Amino acid sequence: MAADTARLICDSAALLDSGRAVRFEVPGPDGQPQAAIALRYQGRVYGYLNACRHIPIELDLQDGNVFDLSGQYLVCSMHGALYLPANGRCVGGPCRGQSLQALPLMEAEGKVWLNVMPD
Ligand code: FES
Repeated sequence: MAADTARLICDSAALLDSGRAVRFEVPGPDGQPQAAIALRYQGRVYGYLNACRHIPIELDLQDGNVFDLSGQYLVCSMHGALYLPANGRCVGGPCRGQSLQALPLMEAEGKVWLNVMPD
């Protein structure tokens, strides 16, 4: 994986299915770092900005625990909004119908990468 097109986020083994997310940062539009999460759901890796669509705070309590007890939803620790892990869509709670901002993660060579190719 070329370093100019992809940024290493973590080893693939660090992401267990419906397990703890790996936290990382991406530069925001103003150049300030924004919190982001990488997670695995039903075998696939997904990445999102770690910002609830109700109030833009981090979903977890900085511990990477973003899945609910069923392992089927991402849950906001503040007011309990539920998001679908596979597309980030909110299906329950105060921001129902909105979606987390997805990030282009991919898996190769036993590692998880963020695609940083310019559009
Ligand atoms: S801040 Fe996430 S549900 Fe309210």
